[in-house]
Amino acid sequence: MVKAVVLGAAGGIGQPLSLLLKANPLITELGLFDIVNTPGVAADLSHISTPAKVVGYLPPDDGLKKVLTNADVVVIPAGVPRKPGELIVMVTRRDDLFKINAGIVRDLATGIATAAPKAFILVISNPVNSTVPIVAEVLKKHGVFDPKRLFGVTTLDVVRASTFVAEILGDLSLSKSVAVPVVGGHSGVTIVPLLSQSSHPLPANLTTDQYEALVKRIQFGGDEVVKAKDGAGSATLSMAYAGAEFAAKLIRAIGGEKGVSAPTFVNLSADPSGGEALKKELGQDLDYFSTVVELGPEGVAKINTLGSLTDAETALVKAAIPELATNIQTGVSFIASPK
Ligand code: NAI
Repeated sequence: MVKAVVLGAAGGIGQPLSLLLKANPLITELGLFDIVNTPGVAADLSHISTPAKVVGYLPPDDGLKKVLTNADVVVIPAGVPRKPGELIVMVTRRDDLFKINAGIVRDLATGIATAAPKAFILVISNPVNSTVPIVAEVLKKHGVFDPKRLFGVTTLDVVRASTFVAEILGDLSLSKSVAVPVVGGHSGVTIVPLLSQSSHPLPANLTTDQYEALVKRIQFGGDEVVKAKDGAGSATLSMAYAGAEFAAKLIRAIGGEKGVSAPTFVNLSADPSGGEALKKELGQDLDYFSTVVELGPEGVAKINTLGSLTDAETALVKAAIPELATNIQTGVSFIASPK
């Protein structure tokens, strides 16, 4: 019996994500919340012949509290997406976009802290490097923060890396089985694909230029979509797929399946050893990082270290750290010392 909840369920990501969660046979109840349209989305999905009972809520009459009651897994794609020309959410229209999304995530996290403090929380709303610390700070204020239960969804970077590597290998049918750890964070240069650890090695004759182009494509893959959509939003369908994949893995792990792991952006104190080995590898005392995380019944079971890196990958990790540290601090300060 798993109750999954989507906050922002009527949006570009929210609707296809809710569809994919409705198709997951392990979910028995699906709660949809948004400031608009959730009754319609819920009515539509409720006709699909899968087990989940679907109910849609709006803000009046304590809708947020009602949708969150008894929630096991809460996925948050609420917010506003970026537009063409806004290459990284944090850099342009910084104040507007960041403050809007940060405020939305803060308010939803407050609802979770009071109505579903034990739920597993999956944050999709950007900038993930900052919105995850925002959720953590809100939960801390309410005395209910469990780092093992909070995840920044970076799966789209992993999905893109698998697809682009399969393309380079000339066989898209491989994309489902290609596994590339993508570590660091979830925007631009903080996205670090560890291509040397790909389950399917890159062609030996790949030139340095081709390698660098591939890294850049994974880091800035979202721009391709924003540009192609030409004002109609950012990645929604691929993000919904990625979010549903991560949610499905977590639901299998909390249900007792062994050997489930995925890259995700987590608070390093979730690791039984406090993530000390990873911090030592990074040479930096970061509180959050995305790396391969082993999942279990309590959420995070173990946070893996990076393992052996090429010189190019070491340079990418080094380049990611300053921006990541700033993004994390921006999130923490938004709650700790709001301006
Ligand atoms: P959208 O604008 O299509 O949908 C957002 C939805 O959130 C709307 O239905 C809106 O009504 C709802 N919403 C706004 N305020 C709310 C509140 N207080 N409570 C509940 N719902 C609320 O945007 P889209 O394209 O679905 O993107 C959503 C977020 O996901 C953005 O922050 C975007 O940057 C982020 N994103 C994250 C990715 C990732 O890889 N983690 C990839 C792509 C986008």
